[in-house]
Amino acid sequence: MARLFIVSNRVSVPTGAARRAGGLEVALKATLNRRDVTWFGWSGGVKPKAEVETKTLRSGNTTYIVTDLSEEDYQEYYSGFANRVLWPILHYRLDLAEFSRRDLSGYIRVNEQFADELSKVLKPDDIIWVHDYHYIPLARALRLRGHANRIGFFLHIPMPPPDILTALSHHEKLIPALAEYDLVGFQTHADSANFSRYLAAECGFPNQWPAPRAGRTQGMRVGVFPVGIATEEFRKRAAGAADSDLVQRIRATIPGVLMIGVDRLDYTKGITHRLEGFEHFLRAHEEWRGHVTFLQITPQSRDDLPEYIDMKHRIDGLAGEINARYGDVSWLPVRYINRTYSRLALAGFYRLARAALVTPLRDGMNLVAKEYVAAQDEEDPGVLILSRFAGAATELKAALLVNPYDAESVGTAIARALAMPLAERRSRHAELFSALKENDIENWGERFIAELVAGADGAPVPSLSAPPKALSTG
Ligand code: G6P
Repeated sequence: MARLFIVSNRVSVPTGAARRAGGLEVALKATLNRRDVTWFGWSGGVKPKAEVETKTLRSGNTTYIVTDLSEEDYQEYYSGFANRVLWPILHYRLDLAEFSRRDLSGYIRVNEQFADELSKVLKPDDIIWVHDYHYIPLARALRLRGHANRIGFFLHIPMPPPDILTALSHHEKLIPALAEYDLVGFQTHADSANFSRYLAAECGFPNQWPAPRAGRTQGMRVGVFPVGIATEEFRKRAAGAADSDLVQRIRATIPGVLMIGVDRLDYTKGITHRLEGFEHFLRAHEEWRGHVTFLQITPQSRDDLPEYIDMKHRIDGLAGEINARYGDVSWLPVRYINRTYSRLALAGFYRLARAALVTPLRDGMNLVAKEYVAAQDEEDPGVLILSRFAGAATELKAALLVNPYDAESVGTAIARALAMPLAERRSRHAELFSALKENDIENWGERFIAELVAGADGAPVPSLSAPPKALSTG
């Protein structure tokens, strides 16, 4: 049987320590549980060039192959091109893109190094599934090394419209490199359509599209695979965690009801806008003062980048101001925490919370929204307030959808959520829960892999010139 390689920048090597499980890890979990997988990527270590090494270890049915980055690679590839150019632009934030970092070379160099490492272990019938914006040119590097394997790519974050994508320096060199993948997957139809429009406008697709190389018999295909969660498992986990010591302690120390937000510290998450929305709510609804607490849990990463340092100061300042203005000795409106909690603890917090504020300015999917819904007690469910600019909004239409930039309307949605009658909460929750069940994560990886290997024996494949095919209807 063909071996499966998963490639992502972050690799969750089991260490025993409590870690934040990001969206990518949550998405891959079912595939990792079900299959014998080799997971390849960055070790998380940054070393002097002479000490950089690649290690292999095995745990359960997963083999981990992780490689360090040199200081220069870390700066140019990870902090530089991936996080200060691709990340903001793909999230529609041209204002935050670091255009002086137009040099692609560090990013390409690390992709080449990773291709070299992979080349040492690949066999011809291995299937390779590459994740996220760190590795757009990886398939090309592998093809140039003679690998005709099935290679798929999934973008966990948004794909913006061509107008925005063309602001990316060297986009004409980078984006067409995706043609070297056999299958390119996106979270939503809008992402996939944006990509198709870029190909038509900028790459002369299909007429001037390069022929497949390295012995491949067919070209790239595109699909839509919205990431889901393990709905039933998360529901049970939340029900079990509801009486944990930690949840009990929160319940005992919070006057009134709890509202929750959980996001990695990132400008795409709209945390300052959300706090402004909460402030609007407190200003307009005096009757709720003292009776609602907003718990914002925000673990950090990329904390050496100036945009993140800046944002951290702004959030700290805003949370402090709201507490100073509205709080009293027995009640702080905002509890803002920069640490990581286990998914079990989060499941318990979600179940306790009467409402969740999931208001990213732009997000590929957002699994917090889905986990919050799954965690609810169906007899007495909480209300999801969700940004219309999160990929999850295309499935979770029964949430209170908001424009996250409009603080006043976020404030109004909070008031509506907290006052929502039980019957409406139940009916919205039932609709949301059934949307989750329709697109459970159990099938996500298998659907992608099945589509990636499909056509290997000459079976017909969807054409890109037709509207992108939905491959993910559950
Ligand atoms: C998003 C991306 C992941 C990334 C994660 C955390 O979820 O899709 O690829 O790993 O953010 O970012 P970091 O830079 O800490 O790995």
